[in-house]
Amino acid sequence: MPVKKEAYHWYASFFYLNLISLSKNVKLYQKEERMINMLDKKVSKLINEQVNKEFYSAYLYLDFSNYYYEAGLDGFGNWYKVQAQEERDHAMLMMQYLQNAGEKLP
Ligand SMILES: [Fe+2]
Repeated sequence: MPVKKEAYHWYASFFYLNLISLSKNVKLYQKEERMINMLDKKVSKLINEQVNKEFYSAYLYLDFSNYYYEAGLDGFGNWYKVQAQEERDHAMLMMQYLQNAGEKLP
């Protein structure tokens, strides 16, 4: 049974309307995805400040470590050296988090 010309036009216009709405939805989805991945400016600023505080703590611990090594208390010196490494690790993790979120590091 041959397909009526009117039916074909109806089908074609239905098909193209669907394509248009599909591409609109894809664009909307991509926009929403970008918005979800974007880090709030306030949050990114606070994490940046925390990175500085972690490095600052690492320096303090290193200073304590040097003090104890000079005093001949190597056990305490080593303990503070380990703490300094831990603070550096915290800072590096937060920096990596910012980089993964596409934030520009200062
Ligand atoms: Fe820390």
